[in-house]
Amino acid sequence: MKKIVVHDKTFVESIPEARLLEGIHSLAARISADYEGQDMLFVPILNGAYMFAADLVRALDIDPEVQFMRLSSYGGGMSSSGTITPMLDLECPVEGRHVLLVEDIVDTGNTLQWLREYFMDKGAASVRMACLLFKKEVFQKEVPPAYFCFEIPNQFVVGYGLDYAERGRRYRSIYTLES
Ligand code: PRP
Repeated sequence: MKKIVVHDKTFVESIPEARLLEGIHSLAARISADYEGQDMLFVPILNGAYMFAADLVRALDIDPEVQFMRLSSYGGGMSSSGTITPMLDLECPVEGRHVLLVEDIVDTGNTLQWLREYFMDKGAASVRMACLLFKKEVFQKEVPPAYFCFEIPNQFVVGYGLDYAERGRRYRSIYTLES
C-alpha cells in the first residue's frame, strides 16, 4: 500500500491515478454530451482544482472558454468553516452563458452554494458544478453538485491538487489520512 508523509501526518493511497483518470474521462463524456452546442464557461476554482481541471478540460469533446477564480481560503487546517470572498475574479462576461464550476472537492457545500448564487446574480443562463470528490455524508445544502467523479467518506484527503497546510498537492493519486 502506497503511503506519503505530509508535514506531520501519514496518508495512504485511496484512489490511484488510473482510477482517477478513468472517472474523469467518463465524466467528460457526459459533460460533453450535455453541453453540445452551448456556450460553456469552464471555471476552475483555485487552488485545489487545478490538476482535475487540466485533465477534465483535455478530455472534453467541446471547446469551452476557460477562466479561473480563486476564493478566500478556509486556511491551513483540516476542516472547513467561515465566510467566502473572491480573491481573483473572472474577467469575462457571464450573462446568458452556461457556467461549469470545477472543484476538487465538495464538503459542506458552502462554497458550491455561494458560487451558484454569485453566478446566478451575474445573469448566467445556468450554473452547474463538476467536482472530483463529493463528501455526501457531510453535505449540508439542498442542491448537490450536478457532476462528481467519486463519492468519498468524511476523511481528510490530499494529493491530485488537494493539500494539507499547502503541501501534498503534487501527488498523482488521492491519499487518505491514516487512521
Ligand atoms: C476546498 C475546496 C472547496 C471547498 C469545499 O477549498 O477546494 O473550495 O474547500 O468545502 P465546502 O464544501 O465545505 O465549502 P480550500 O479552502 O481548502 O482551498 P484550496 O482549494 O485553495 O485548497
